[in-house]
Amino acid sequence: MPIMKAIRSAFLDFLDDPFFVPEAESVRYFSDGLLVLNAEGKIHDFGAYADLRDQYANVPTTVYRDRLILPGFIDTHIHFPQTTMMAAYGEQLLEWLNKYTFPTERKFQDKDYAREVADLFLDELLRNGTTTALVFAAVFPQSADAFFEAAHARNLRMISGKVMMDRNAPDELCDTAAASYQETKALIEKWHQKGRLLYAVTPRFAVTSTPEQLQLAGKLLAEYPDVYLHTHLSENVDEVALVKELFPDRQGYLDTYDQAGLVQAKSVFAHGVQLTAAEFARLSEAEAAIAFCPTSNLFLGSGLFKIEQAKSLDYPVKVGLGTDVGAGTSFSMLQTTNEAYKVAQLRHQKLSPFKALFLATLGGARALALGDILGSFEPGKEADFVVLNPQATPLMALRNPQPTASTLEALTELAFSLVIMGDDRTVAATYVMGELAWAQE
Ligand code: GUN
Ligand code: ZN
Repeated sequence: MPIMKAIRSAFLDFLDDPFFVPEAESVRYFSDGLLVLNAEGKIHDFGAYADLRDQYANVPTTVYRDRLILPGFIDTHIHFPQTTMMAAYGEQLLEWLNKYTFPTERKFQDKDYAREVADLFLDELLRNGTTTALVFAAVFPQSADAFFEAAHARNLRMISGKVMMDRNAPDELCDTAAASYQETKALIEKWHQKGRLLYAVTPRFAVTSTPEQLQLAGKLLAEYPDVYLHTHLSENVDEVALVKELFPDRQGYLDTYDQAGLVQAKSVFAHGVQLTAAEFARLSEAEAAIAFCPTSNLFLGSGLFKIEQAKSLDYPVKVGLGTDVGAGTSFSMLQTTNEAYKVAQLRHQKLSPFKALFLATLGGARALALGDILGSFEPGKEADFVVLNPQATPLMALRNPQPTASTLEALTELAFSLVIMGDDRTVAATYVMGELAWAQE
């Protein structure tokens, strides 16, 4: 008999996408539920406590009263080297990169420093309830090594890669097309599928890659069909104009990637604020994903992402939420849902609480092609989850006099208070593969 354990609490997860099926059918909620975990850290069983109590009467059970447990948050776009440079004043994308970002990323040539920051970064993710992320390292292969080592030590499901950039950046930060190919190949061999780690081929964006480098990135995807492609796309108006100048023969920004074979089902494009209708349609056809990064898009003044266009019935595109730290202003996915809601409001759209929490959990998992192995409490999935305290602050206690909802209406209210008022203080504990990885106090 393998050793099992269980968690008893209120639980909320998603069975399907509330952008496309009625919300009441997409959300699953137990006000008193039981999550049963096996010895490998996977979900063995999940349901109402009343239904499962007899079957698991002998399983040691941790009880969380007045808490709500969700699948661990998924951050679909973030830069670990930019942890130290949040709140860099006064610039929009291209100037911000030159003035703040490139000088910061230079320091990641030093492997020990990179490891120190990677550890701080992962602490911060866990403190905020984020258990999986798609992460930019810096151009130096040792910066990716440092990140993967730190994530491996914590048994986290993380996707990362060394940045590829061979032009329009300071010399010390540029590789060459050939070197980036070789270095990336070696990193894939070393880290992809090691434990829970996965590799993303990571050209920074079309501005900093020659056509040759993009072609070689495509060659890597062809040679390793199950690795990811992670880059930036159509974030800022000046950037889009510059890409047009740099690639005069291409049909548009997305086409610079498409011509190199970089637009496919495991491709994740950060931002997409300035995309055309034809580009949304192409992303839909390719089953590629967009990381919507509201705090970053507002901070850099990039613009308002059209989520309703991404979630259209005609051309649906997978969408996850990204913090995009350090252009993003918070590690918290709850602060990110808050800003996503406001971006929708500015476009006269409504982002419902369940849609927002879907994006932060199962939606993010699907955007990262991980929907079959995490992102909800389906038996067989990896048991990464977050314990939320709906009364974490005096104001939240005032807003949520009942910390546990007993009707769908009450749950909708509670969920919205988390989406808008939640932050790191709301995260009481974070579990990774069934093990407590972080807890308040
Ligand atoms: N585009 C290219 N590099 C970056 C980056 O580091 N951050 C953001 N937000 N956009 C980018
Ligand atoms: Zn970014």
